[in-house]
Amino acid sequence: MSPVNFSEDEVTRMHDDAKKYLVQRWEPRPGYKPLILTHGDGVYFWDAKRKKYLDLMSQLYNVHIGLNNREVIEAAKKQLDEMAYASPSYSNVPQIQLAKKLAQITPGDLCKTFFGNSGTEANEVAIKLAQLYRGSSKIISYWDAYHGSTYAMVSVGGSSRNRQSPGLSIFEEFKHVPSPYCYRCTFKKEYPECDLLCADFVRYTIEKEGAKSVAAFMAEPICSWAGQVVPPDSYWQKIRKICDETGVLMIFDEVMTGFARTGKMFACEHWNIVPDIETYAKGITSGYVPLGATIVNKKIADHFDEKGFPHSYTYSGHALACATSLAVIDIYIKENLADRAAKMGDYMMDELRGMQDRQPVIGDVRGLGLFMGVELVANRETKEGLQSKDLTPEQKKDPTHNPMVYLSDRAKEKGLIISSAPGTGILRMMPYLIITEEQVDEGLRLLEETLEETCKKFGYPKKG
Ligand SMILES: Cc1ncc(COP(=O)(O)O)c(C=O)c1O
Repeated sequence: MSPVNFSEDEVTRMHDDAKKYLVQRWEPRPGYKPLILTHGDGVYFWDAKRKKYLDLMSQLYNVHIGLNNREVIEAAKKQLDEMAYASPSYSNVPQIQLAKKLAQITPGDLCKTFFGNSGTEANEVAIKLAQLYRGSSKIISYWDAYHGSTYAMVSVGGSSRNRQSPGLSIFEEFKHVPSPYCYRCTFKKEYPECDLLCADFVRYTIEKEGAKSVAAFMAEPICSWAGQVVPPDSYWQKIRKICDETGVLMIFDEVMTGFARTGKMFACEHWNIVPDIETYAKGITSGYVPLGATIVNKKIADHFDEKGFPHSYTYSGHALACATSLAVIDIYIKENLADRAAKMGDYMMDELRGMQDRQPVIGDVRGLGLFMGVELVANRETKEGLQSKDLTPEQKKDPTHNPMVYLSDRAKEKGLIISSAPGTGILRMMPYLIITEEQVDEGLRLLEETLEETCKKFGYPKKG
C-alpha cells in the first residue's frame, strides 16, 4: 500500500472536524494543527498531505519493530478470523500462551500475569496488588515521574504537569522522593562521593512513613519524564536491599523501557535485579493493538492464588491483543532486537557525543540502548536551563518564546520528528529499534541543523 493523498480542502475539513469533535489532550496550543497520519513504513510515516517524516520517537516510543510489519499484521488477521475476543470469564489460547511466554522471558521468579489494556491500567493493577498483598496503602515514587493518567496514577507520578490542575483529586498518602538525576543532583553531590544519598533518602522516607504502612516503591528503571535518568551503578541494588530489609515491595514500570528498548529485553537486567512486580505496555505489542500486563513474583502469585484478586476488565487477556503480542515478541527474539538496540544505541550515542563537542548548547547526553536523552542548556558551565522560568503558560506553547517548541516545530518542517520531556530542555531520543545507521545519520544531520538555527534565533550559548 502507498501513502494516501488527500486534497487541501479535505485536509482542512479533517482539521476542522478534529477541533470540533475531539477533546483536546494536555495543554492545547491555539491554532495548532496536529499532523493527520495516513501511512507508515518502517521508521517513516506520511501525513494526509503525503509529506514524509523520519520519526526519532517511534510514535509514542512504542512501535519498537517499526510500522507496517507484515508478519504481525498477518498474525493479527489470523486471530481475528479464529476468535477476536473471548470473555475474561473463560481463558483463550493466545492469552495462556502469552502469559507462559512472559514467565519464560522475564528474569527471576516473575511468573504470573494479569492483562489489561494500557500502561496506566498495568500500573494501577500493580499498586492495587501491592496494597492488597501488604495490607497497607502508601506508595513511594519519584517526583517528576509519569506512570499514567488515571487518578491513582496521577497521584503516583509526581510530575507537576499532571498534578497541579485545580480541582483534581490527589491521593495524599502517595509520597515522592527525588530520582537519581546526577546531572542536576537534588542533594548537590557527585557520584561516587555521594555514596548514593538519593537511595538512602528512599530508606529514610520509608522509615519516617513507617515501613508497615508502605505497600511499595514504584519507579521506572530509567526515569523518562524526569529526563531519561540513568541511575548510577549499584543504585538499584541498594534500593532492592532497602526494599528487602523493610518488606516494601519493589515495582518497576517497564512500560517504556521493556521489550528490547534499552539493549536488554527488560531494563532491570542491566543491574541484575528482579523487582517483585513489573508492568508492561507499549512494546509488548509494538503499538499494533492496545495491551498492558502486570507480572508478579511467586510469593505474590501464591498469595492471590489463595485469596483471589478483586479486579477485572471486559478486555482482560483480549485474544487479538495477546496473539499480536506473541507475534511481536517472536520478532524481538528472532531478530535479536535487544542486541540491535544496544549496538545502534552505542552508534547513536557516539554520534550525539560528537555533536555535543560541536554544539555548546548540548549539556549532557545519556541513555542505554535506544533510550536516550539530550539535555540542552543555555550555558554549559552554569547548566542554566534552556527555557526561561519566567515564561507565561501561553508563552510556553509559543515557538517564538519557547526554544524547545521552536526546535520541534522547525524539525517537523524539515520532515524530522523529535520531542522533549514536557516542560524540560531534554530531548528524548527513542527511535524504532529497526533504525539503520544511515537513518540515524539522516536524523542527526537534520537535528544538528535545526539546533544551530534555534541557537541563532534565541542567542545560545549564553555568556556566564
Ligand atoms: C513510563 C510510563 N508508564 C505508564 C505510561 C502510561 O501508559 P498508557 O499511555 O499506555 O496508559 C506511560 C505512557 O507514556 C509511560 O511512559
